[in-house]
Amino acid sequence: MPKSIHINKKISSYKKTIEVSSDKSLSIRTILLATQAVGVSKISNLLESEDVLNTLKTIKKLGITYKKKNNVYEIYGYGLNSFVSKKNLLINAGNSGTLARLIVGLLVKSKNKIKLIGDKSLSKRDFSRVTEPLKNFGVNIKTKKGSLPIEIEGSEFLRPSKILEKLGSAQVKSCSIFCALNTPGTTIIKAKKSRNHTELLLKYLKYPIKIKSKGDYDYIQLNGLHQFKAFDYKVPGDISSAAFFIVLTLLTKNSEILIKKVNVNKSRIGIINILNKMNAKIKLKNKRLYKGEETADIYVKSANDLISINCPENLNSSAIDEFLVIFLVAAKANGISRFKNLGELNKKESPRLDLAIKFLKMIGIKIAKKNSNVKIFGKPNLNLNRKFIVKNFMKDHRIFMMACVAAIAFGGDWKISDKDSIKTSFPKFLHILKGLGANIN
Ligand code: S3P
Repeated sequence: MPKSIHINKKISSYKKTIEVSSDKSLSIRTILLATQAVGVSKISNLLESEDVLNTLKTIKKLGITYKKKNNVYEIYGYGLNSFVSKKNLLINAGNSGTLARLIVGLLVKSKNKIKLIGDKSLSKRDFSRVTEPLKNFGVNIKTKKGSLPIEIEGSEFLRPSKILEKLGSAQVKSCSIFCALNTPGTTIIKAKKSRNHTELLLKYLKYPIKIKSKGDYDYIQLNGLHQFKAFDYKVPGDISSAAFFIVLTLLTKNSEILIKKVNVNKSRIGIINILNKMNAKIKLKNKRLYKGEETADIYVKSANDLISINCPENLNSSAIDEFLVIFLVAAKANGISRFKNLGELNKKESPRLDLAIKFLKMIGIKIAKKNSNVKIFGKPNLNLNRKFIVKNFMKDHRIFMMACVAAIAFGGDWKISDKDSIKTSFPKFLHILKGLGANIN
């Protein structure tokens, strides 16, 4: 099978209803929490992408049994700290920052030494952001100069801690929460706002956790060592996957799309708030509450009069995985869009901010970067008609998908490599695009 795709035609107008893949953050979190629950948890509509399959492989290595029956994953949990591991166990998190950073929080009492590794991209990412807070709990943990591999040897003598999380990283916050579950006493976490699925799931499971919000920070207080019961969960759609279709529809003439049953937790819908400020008129229909979270159908139609944005910094975290496609909208909007303090984007599966700038320059968009602030000079008449080759983007799944959207919406003759990268988060991506009428070879 060729590893690259070829696109040389804009998509024609469409009116469709689609479902995108299930939410990756919730898929990984429900699996990990099911391992700590008592009893058999049943998770349906789980995202079967590589990051999630690596999560399943990891829990199996840690002695957890799971079975797939009629599309429902049954996970057999034996309560907190019930992992069983062989001596010098090796865990490979693959490409998944979420798996790697969350799982260490659950290994803090493991009886044997465990080594955590990942693929080339994950091995370049910062892990001191999770290991430093864990040291406050008394965890024995070592990194290789702040990166993988991590070696962790559990301790029986953990102490509750006061944690300050200033990056706005849900992975860092969740790692400390997971460690606190296994620590006696009360842990207090002051965390710059970021996606709050871990806290909401624990609250739904009636775990003793208190969450307060003040300004840009969440204050989380939880008491460790409380057992909780197994649960059933049906994972909703992922707004980070819906993002590609939201933007494609905005940028395609005379088109409409309804994206069914997507998780629209307030800490995730930055893309909708940002694009609506740019005149997008995206609507959330059929809003429902589901086990402490909110879901909705997202309705989008073509936009003819997109305007630039001076993006409020407090929306950064709630759109952190969506900036690549938001930049495509800025490229087509009337005026100069400004985004501030996007340094965290360079800490993702690839240095996404730098690569996005390289990409936008390649398609002829003027862009200025100072520190981690960017200005994008929109071209409302943007229309491409030459050849483009997209390669060497560190197999970043979101860059591959952004490039497909750009090709299909703006025109030109494109060869985009690393098609397999979509297996990380959104295996159905090309299939859905083709269903809308996109011509992809
Ligand atoms: C995630 C949090 C975000 C996001 C990632 C998934 C999560 O990372 O970029 O794709 O599931 O907690 P940070 O927490 O590092 O910002």
